[in-house]
Formats: sequence, structure tokens, C-alpha cells
Amino acid sequence: MAPITTAIINIGSLVTNDPSLPGAGPLGVIQDAAVVIDGDRIAWVGPTSKAPATDNAVDAEGRAGLPGFVDSHSHLVFAGDRTEEFNARMSGRSYSAGGIRTTVAATRAATDAELEANLRRHLGEALRQGTTTLETKSGYGLSVHDEARALRIAAAHTDEVTYLGAHVVAPEFADDPDGYVALVTGEMLDACAPHARWVDVFCERGAFDGDQARTVLEAGIAKGLHARVHANQLGHGPGVRLAVELGAASADHCTHLTDADVDALASGDTVATLLPGAEFSTRAPWPDARRLLDAGATVALSTDCNPGSSFTSSVPFCIALAVRDMGMTPDEAVRAATAGGAAALRRTDVGRVAPGARADLVLLDAPSHIHLAYRPGVPLVSAVWRRGVREV
Ligand code: NIG
Ligand code: FE
Repeated sequence: MAPITTAIINIGSLVTNDPSLPGAGPLGVIQDAAVVIDGDRIAWVGPTSKAPATDNAVDAEGRAGLPGFVDSHSHLVFAGDRTEEFNARMSGRSYSAGGIRTTVAATRAATDAELEANLRRHLGEALRQGTTTLETKSGYGLSVHDEARALRIAAAHTDEVTYLGAHVVAPEFADDPDGYVALVTGEMLDACAPHARWVDVFCERGAFDGDQARTVLEAGIAKGLHARVHANQLGHGPGVRLAVELGAASADHCTHLTDADVDALASGDTVATLLPGAEFSTRAPWPDARRLLDAGATVALSTDCNPGSSFTSSVPFCIALAVRDMGMTPDEAVRAATAGGAAALRRTDVGRVAPGARADLVLLDAPSHIHLAYRPGVPLVSAVWRRGVREV
């Protein structure tokens, strides 16, 4: 039996991210649009007046439409929370990489069922806010057993799974960081690689230096994983340039950049992924999106959802921050949260609304995507299709 076709009609203003559409601008915006879904794919996009006949129709009644958000950076396999740490920070204490160990202790003590329930809860939260593709990482296990189980649990819920054994040095190796790097690139990698697509490292003072980060990434690449890097979050350092040199899909955070870092991102095909939830929750300086865009870098915008530095699953919130404080226009921020995230995951099937793409679509209770920044904190997402299935 042929899959059921559904037309979503009367979309007041639809972001397609297809810049080749005549007169539709860089975001490929179509007015009074319709989208036809056939199974899990988009079959047709165009004006409602020309939509082909389908089995079903859904009337969007003038709401705005856009591709589902692609959140290319989160840390959702964890237990416990860090309310006290956040509270202390908002009373003046500064953020450091060390807090990660609090979550490591809670995560190790949790059962598989508890970790999975927590992951599901946050995935549901993200979906209700329009996220239809979500990357997530290990990094709160830091032992062979706990890293591998984190990735197994993540892989049951998303294809975009990242091995981050090199988040910080495990407490057992506090006096032997190189011994920990040997574990991360040896037995732990062997146990983790089958469950992951990506390898990541937190290249930062207090975590791993440039040489250690290179060792971790090269070992992962040799095992068939693709690289992404936590780079230049807390200070200047070698992370961004290492990411570009090794052909990483993304350098994430990019808060402290030299001109050479910006040039490297602009000339390579490593996406600069900005995570303003982290700057918000740590009272850190904002990453300068304008500087990266003006230099010609590809920018993605994601949540970094984790219990320490950025406990938000809301891409709309990150869009609002990026527009208000990072020099992005609403169009640029929406593009970064959809097509940008897809580029950071090297995906061409998501982040756009076009025939053949995955049928991941969001409708907003608003006349245009600009309202995502114009109406910060307002739950505008009113419908979500993921792989052609209406989820919200
Ligand atoms: O991306 N930077 C490293 N990792 C996380 C923070 C994790 C934590 O504090 O638990 C981040 O911000
Ligand atoms: Fe992160």
C-alpha cells in the first residue's frame, strides 16, 4: 500500500532554507505555502493554490512554518542536577570545568532505567519546543562501563551520538592524566566506538590540552568516528585550529576567538557552533556571531543542554539570545538553528523544507519566524511533524 499523503496548507510564511527559490531570499521564504508529506519525506513544497491532491489536509490557518530545529550539541545522558552550583554562580562564584565531576558521581550511581527516563524526558521537552534532530553525548561516565552504557542508551533514541570520554579526566586518574588519555583512546574507545558516530574532546584549561585533544581525536578518527570539538569556551586555546586542521564537522562554543581562529573557521569546512545557553547560565561573555558571519564562517546555534553550564532544551530561547546579544539577525539565527545545525552534523536530509528532505516541520502560533526572537520565552511552537508523524 502506498504511504498516506498529507498536505499542510495555508502556511502564512514558510522558511524552506532553499535560497534557489526565486524571490524567496536567503531563507527561501514562501508566502501562503503548502507542504506535502509522503511517508517520512517531503514530496512537494509550493503555494497553497497549486498544491496537488492528497489523502489528508491540515489547515495551518496562516501560522508560520519552518524546518524542525537541528540541535547539534547536547549532553543528555546524566543523572542528578546542579541547582546549588547554579545558585552559587548567580551569587558571584565563577564557572569551571570541575563541576562536571558532580554529575559524573550521580550518573555512575544511576541505573540504566533512570538514565533512560531522564533522557526521554529531555527529548520530549526538546520536541515540544520544535527540535526534530538532536545530537547527544556521553561524558558523565568516564569509565569504560559507564561511557559505553551512556552511548548505548543514547543510540536507542538518536542517530547522532558522540563519544566524549575526554570530557574531563576521571577522578581515579587525577594524578595520571596521560594514563586517562591512554584509556580513552584504547579500551574505552574500543567499547564505545560501535555505539557512536562522533568523537569529541573538551579542549580547555582544566580539561585536555592541545596535544591530548589531538591524541583523542586522531584515535577516534582511526576507529572510523568523525570529529567535533569543545573549543575555546572558557578562554583562548588551540581547540578551534585543531578542529579545522583535523577536518572536524564542528568547533563548539567558540566564545574566545583570535583573528587566526576566525580565519581558520572561515576558510575550512568546520562549522562554528554557538551555544548561548552556556554563556547565559555562566554569566560569560557572548560569542561574537557577527564577527564569524562577516568573515564567512558557517554558524550553527544549539542548546548545549546539560545540568551544569546550560540547562535549557529550548532552541527558541537560544535564537532569542543570539539575536539580542550576539549580533545575529532573526533570519540568521533561524538559519543557524536549522540548516546550520544540519551542516554541523554533515546532514543534508534535515534543516530544510524541500522535496526529498525528511518531513520535519514546525508550525508557530505566529505569523513569521521572526517572532521566535521578537517574543522571547513565549511557547510559540504549536505543531511538530517528525519523519512525517505529527508529534505535537
Ligand atoms: O559544553 N564544556 C564542557 N561541557 C559542558 C559542560 C558540562 C557541565 O558543566 O556539566 C559544556 O558546557
Ligand atoms: Fe557541551
